[in-house]
Amino acid sequence: MYPLRRNRRLRTNESIRSLVRETILSPKDFLVPLFVTEGKGIKEEIASMPDYYRLSLDLLEAEVKELWKMGLHAVLLFVKVPDNLKDNKGTEALNEDGLMQRAIKTVKNACPGMLVMTDVAMDPYSSYGHDGIVENGQILNDETSDFLAEMSVSHALAGADIVAPSDMMDGRILSIREALEDEGLIHTGIMSYSAKYASAFYGPFRDALDSAPVDVKDVPKDKKTYQMDYANRFEALKETEMDVDEGADIVMVKPGLCYLDIVREIRNEVDVPVAVYQVSGEYAMVKAAAEKGWLDHDAVMMEQLTAIKRAGANIIASYFAKDAVKLLG
Ligand code: PBG
Repeated sequence: MYPLRRNRRLRTNESIRSLVRETILSPKDFLVPLFVTEGKGIKEEIASMPDYYRLSLDLLEAEVKELWKMGLHAVLLFVKVPDNLKDNKGTEALNEDGLMQRAIKTVKNACPGMLVMTDVAMDPYSSYGHDGIVENGQILNDETSDFLAEMSVSHALAGADIVAPSDMMDGRILSIREALEDEGLIHTGIMSYSAKYASAFYGPFRDALDSAPVDVKDVPKDKKTYQMDYANRFEALKETEMDVDEGADIVMVKPGLCYLDIVREIRNEVDVPVAVYQVSGEYAMVKAAAEKGWLDHDAVMMEQLTAIKRAGANIIASYFAKDAVKLLG
């Protein structure tokens, strides 16, 4: 007797393995998160995110030109707001000449073809580090939604192609869609962070933007009343289906690796593109282990990114985008 099927035949060497490979990463899979800060000539490394930087607008321009040449044609913008511009209502977010609005224009001027997505959330602008307006120890839902709609219009008027609300308020996709339509901004898309979990993996990001919830009386210490409980699965489907019904063009699962079961399930359920955000803490873990010599950085990075795509991601937001594309060659 011999084994009826010898599966190892198709693994004999790299030529046959690459012939039968089911999932292949391409530069076109990636969305590159970029952190923007005020000033000139500034490139500040984020302490908990080695090799990742906050850039001032002049260096942002150079960065997007480089990304474009590498075949990376979509960016997701975040801004670090100085403390003196923060308040409970996120007022600065609507400033026509604010950092985000200028960053959008900078990218579009440097690289007209670059797809510009913007993070729509109050936390970098909030004196309390929350994604919503805080009142009597609560995060107000509908007032926040209305505000996010105004913020989205402001980004769209500055030139954003797609706005990406990352707050998890109920009904905000509908509010944003209505506000955009009312302004005639019918081509501006919405990528909804639809299944966003209350995750400890966002720590390094909150360092990058100085946006962690503050420890003040009557202010919630965490985001668990709006971001999802990581124990839940049906809830992710419900959130995502509702966002599609309200007008989301793209939905997102976040974080990545711990949630690939959710990614697969959502990919099977909805008929819009599914994005996955491999978040800051996932990036930091790989960097830290690699620095210690405990893991092979490039091998682990490619394994994780490929797994995210295999699980069903059509778009991968990742701090590894440049590193991965360099390896793809
Ligand atoms: C803000 C926002 C967060 C991230 C993206 N948008 C942080 C948070 O919700 O606290 C996290 C991204 C990352 O960790 O890489 N609304």
